[in-house]
Amino acid sequence: MNILIIGSGGREHALAWKIAQSPLVDTVWSTPGSAALDQIGPCFDVAADDVENLEKLVLQIEPDLVVVGPEAPLAEGLGDRLRARGFDVFGPNKEPAQLEASKGFAKDMMAQFGVPTAAYGRFTEAEAAKAFLTTLEAPYVLKADGLAAGKGVVIVDTLDQAQAEADAMLSGKFGDASTELVIEEFMPGEEASVFVLTDGVNRLTLPACQDHKRLKDGDEGPNTGGMGAYCPAPVMTPELMAQVDENIAAPMLEGLADAGHPYKGVLYIGLMITSEGPKVVEFNVRFGDPECQILMAALQDDIVPALLACATGGMPARDFESLMPALSAAKPAATIVLATSGYPGSYEKGSVIKGVKEAGQGEGVTIFHAGTGVSDDGELVATGGRVLNVTAEGDTLEQAIERAYAAVDTIDWPKGVHRRDIGWRALKR
Ligand code: AMP
Ligand code: GLY
Repeated sequence: MNILIIGSGGREHALAWKIAQSPLVDTVWSTPGSAALDQIGPCFDVAADDVENLEKLVLQIEPDLVVVGPEAPLAEGLGDRLRARGFDVFGPNKEPAQLEASKGFAKDMMAQFGVPTAAYGRFTEAEAAKAFLTTLEAPYVLKADGLAAGKGVVIVDTLDQAQAEADAMLSGKFGDASTELVIEEFMPGEEASVFVLTDGVNRLTLPACQDHKRLKDGDEGPNTGGMGAYCPAPVMTPELMAQVDENIAAPMLEGLADAGHPYKGVLYIGLMITSEGPKVVEFNVRFGDPECQILMAALQDDIVPALLACATGGMPARDFESLMPALSAAKPAATIVLATSGYPGSYEKGSVIKGVKEAGQGEGVTIFHAGTGVSDDGELVATGGRVLNVTAEGDTLEQAIERAYAAVDTIDWPKGVHRRDIGWRALKR
């Protein structure tokens, strides 16, 4: 069969790498793809958020399965369009994709289905937002309702700052994304993310991940898209995983299905492990980046049957569950993100990176490309903020992390920065 992947980053490179290993698969196409994805299969030049032309491309090439990497096309209804044309899509329709595209919608759904999360209010008027803030305790959490490229969450320590922030956000700090605000109670705890593959009725839970969002060691510095990740995260004990399934995944997915909006794809559950148990920080409607990279490296078996089962739906429960042993035979894995110096602010493009091929030959190591290109004279160059995901699996998490750092250390890239402490919480335990 032929599979089309939508996207161009490290997440999509990892998906393509894993999917291409399946004996079921002939061709892995991607759009818009990248220099790295082009090594796996042909790339097209339709942008990942151009749903109209994505639909045209799919009608033209007729893939057996479309795997959507990023959230934007899902929020724009790509799933509905392709399903209406009879194609199988791994990724939810527009309505359930609002779980990521509107934080207010996600909070309302959680309230309706009794899913544990922070207390909240939704606001479009500054006066009401400010009055609500006076009823909360510091620190204050303010979120732009809409998609804001991962930047729409602001956490401040004083009421004055919070009220000023409410004014700024409602007057367009994040453009259309912040015409509405969600203000919520601060939840102290350790974060983890859990990914559930689902056809809308059945579900398979992948090993829990922990991402490192801050730029610098010790979780200091600005927030980024993620500087590294590992799995399984030991904070997520089997008891906590069972609570997430029972109190979060099941009621959300059953609630959506009962409302006529079955969710097909991967549900990303961003969690805070509080003293009262796991609570939802956010939902995303796609794989995490870089969590996808570690999950693809960790899973030892073919993932394509599970992706197909989610996309097509209707598989009897026992058959769906039989996909589980294959997925759960996962190894520990870690990924280190190499970013261009300056990220997440402005950074230069085009710096030469050497030694990547050699680094990728380390045992258990796979290097996913998030933002690279090839220069006119054939050198590998950085083209983005997050550039490489140096990923390794191992028999233990310690070994996976050691292998990943050994590979990082053979890469020669003076303009690159990375964290040296990925996995520190797990190693400390
Ligand atoms: P989000 O984009 O919703 O994941 O938020 C970004 C980050 O802000 C999360 O990864 C958390 O570290 C933090 N955060 C968001 N909401 C809360 C909350 N209610 N309590 C504590 N931290 C939060
Ligand atoms: N790694 C965080 C995210 O994908 O949103």
